[in-house]
Amino acid sequence: MKPSKVYESLAMDMSLADRAGFNPYYLKMVRGGRGELKVDQKGFFDLASNDYLGLATNPRIKAAMIDAVNRSGSSFCGTPIAAGYAAILAELESSIAGMTGLQAAVIFPSCYQANSSLFCSIADANDVVAVDHFAHASLIQGIRASGARIKPFLHNDTHHLEKQLAAAQSHRRIFVVTESVFSTEGSIAPFDEICRLCAQYNAIPIVDDSHGIGVIGKNGRGILEYKNIRGYDGIYTASLGKALANAGGVIAGRADFIEYLRYNCSGLIYSTALAPVNAGGLLASIAIILDEFPALGKQMWSNHAALVSQLTKAGFILKGGEAPIASIACGSPERTVTLAKRLFEQGILSTPFIPPSVPPEQGVLRLIIGAKVDEAAADTIARRIAALAGSGAP
Ligand SMILES: Cc1ncc(COP(=O)(O)O)c(C=O)c1O
Repeated sequence: MKPSKVYESLAMDMSLADRAGFNPYYLKMVRGGRGELKVDQKGFFDLASNDYLGLATNPRIKAAMIDAVNRSGSSFCGTPIAAGYAAILAELESSIAGMTGLQAAVIFPSCYQANSSLFCSIADANDVVAVDHFAHASLIQGIRASGARIKPFLHNDTHHLEKQLAAAQSHRRIFVVTESVFSTEGSIAPFDEICRLCAQYNAIPIVDDSHGIGVIGKNGRGILEYKNIRGYDGIYTASLGKALANAGGVIAGRADFIEYLRYNCSGLIYSTALAPVNAGGLLASIAIILDEFPALGKQMWSNHAALVSQLTKAGFILKGGEAPIASIACGSPERTVTLAKRLFEQGILSTPFIPPSVPPEQGVLRLIIGAKVDEAAADTIARRIAALAGSGAP
């Protein structure tokens, strides 16, 4: 094929945005104060980001980041195995291991990288990975790259998982992969039951707690606290770019396994270490969560309850998950993007999910209010949503 034809075949179809008169993706934002964003100089309430606790503009975190740069420079300019394993990263690893109650942790530049490189280090064609049907793209990509046999199970369906596990018994290693909080649905995995099935069928559980860490559990420590799972012997991954309001990813678990990854996981060994600025900020956000989660969590849940009540009154159909995420079932991509546009016109930023991120005709508009705004702002948001009554999907 001629290069010009190749590029032609790769051109993006923008007809949906053209028809809707709005492109909700790649909006150029400037973050203002708590929960506020500007797009083209106009102020918006941020119900799109994963800043669940409103820490992204926290002064203590910003100061810690500046201090980390002053002490350690802009970058370690090396991979962790070579010149990049600084004391501040080791401190961050211990801090995350302590927060989650796991023996050890290792930090990656992102959770996408952690998830997509984990499986090549632990599985090959002799092995089976059972994975929730709605698991994140980074997990699926990693499992596929490993060559292991993939066995998807229906979303949060432990009966289906059990069937898959029973059928997989002749394989060498068996892993079961799920997210803790599924952010498009707002649902939470029955992870205690999944761990029980893993023990029964000799499988290793792997949980991606990206939307659970700093969000669920009495003290914001994530899925293991939320489901009261003690002595977890599986593998744990999480993004540090959501409630922890920074960047980076982590894999945690048994100390011997984490040590194995340090020498065998290519996404870690061949990639520049997370920058000091991020490590410094993360140490501060973890300290804040450990100290202040009861108040921050209370604000997050009360804002969420007010949002859900207003959306329901305005006639929107919500997916109804347990997590502090309001997911509006919209149906077609047109409806999803049109509703995002209506909210945008009301000064509210949302996240529209359309295929391939969701199955066909199952578009979702996600709103995360978190503790990003105070009560007065939550009231304003509720009034603006009330003005949209009648715009919900039938
Ligand atoms: C469940 C889940 N896992 C992994 C990731 C990737 O995390 P990161 O942004 O740290 O690469 C995301 C972020 O979109 C996510 O939602």
